[in-house]
Amino acid sequence: MQANNRIVSGMRPTGPLHLGHYFGVLLNWEKMQRENECFFFVADWHALTTDYADPSRIKEFVPELVMDWLAAGLDPEKCVLFQQSMVKEHAELHLLLSMITPVGWLERNPTYKEVRQESSKDLSTYGFLGYPVLQAADIVIYRPRYVPVGHDQLPHLELSREIVRRFNHFYGEFFPEPEAKLTTSAKLPGLDGRKMSKSYGNAIHLKDSMDEIRPKVMSMLTDTKRQRLKDPGEPEDCNLYPYLELLEGTELLDEVQEGCRAATRGCGDCKKLLAQRLAEFLEPIQARRAQYERDPDLLADVLKQGTDRAREEAQATMERVRELIGFNF
Ligand code: TRP
Ligand code: SF4
Repeated sequence: MQANNRIVSGMRPTGPLHLGHYFGVLLNWEKMQRENECFFFVADWHALTTDYADPSRIKEFVPELVMDWLAAGLDPEKCVLFQQSMVKEHAELHLLLSMITPVGWLERNPTYKEVRQESSKDLSTYGFLGYPVLQAADIVIYRPRYVPVGHDQLPHLELSREIVRRFNHFYGEFFPEPEAKLTTSAKLPGLDGRKMSKSYGNAIHLKDSMDEIRPKVMSMLTDTKRQRLKDPGEPEDCNLYPYLELLEGTELLDEVQEGCRAATRGCGDCKKLLAQRLAEFLEPIQARRAQYERDPDLLADVLKQGTDRAREEAQATMERVRELIGFNF
């Protein structure tokens, strides 16, 4: 039998993905789909834990998210792409896991306290407290080896592992403990130097047109020491330079560095170069997206095929789980 190298991960449908998502997450997913058996899903129920008062946007963002994934190169022939709420077994497992999860574990979760306090929404709900239990169900229902997560999600994954241990302790060794797959990824700052985020309005989205991107690039913060052309700069202190590092060949990079330090190169030159590179980089991504935008049936087929495959796996797990608990009536 082949060793278990399965991966499960999800993303909440909260809006269009940007370059930070691409270089931070999607590029890794795209690599993993070639080496691992991958299940990637739209965590729409998780979005509902915070947006329950007005869920209308979630519905819009689900197909948008899947299109961004496909645009970024996720291949439905290589990985399973699906929508959480279409596989109802997640909800059943969530219920069963909630029976064994001590409330104290959830209240201690640092993400819970932080987000609840900082959010403008009323998150004093049962569902929001149970966010990590649902997440545990999402993961273990596919019995994967790995979960690729960012550092911010590590406490959630640790909770999943604890819930698994408790399940196995009560009902018999069944679920493997999911391991974090920490991936290296390039950090890309936002246009203004803060973290790239849709809520700061400092992001370049994968679906942005060049007409939207050009002014964004022109407004980018560069090394503030360069008030005028003759002030020498330092690429390491420049917010635009990391973009060039990701998108530009090394030869020109050397030229940029020298020109910047010698004050022979203006920031406008870098901006023009970056706009060009972004256009080249986004061209194939947006071409893939356009296929699905033109043909919604194609997108529906991808989701249906992925959901059927995921459900098959989830159903098999649930049969065993019901047996183990003695609820296979
Ligand atoms: N909590 C994740 C996020 O905010 C989304 C998510 C839900 C997830 N279930 C998951 C991620 C299971 C990995 C595995 O993006
Ligand atoms: Fe940044 Fe280029 Fe300006 Fe130097 S010249 S500060 S690298 S944009």
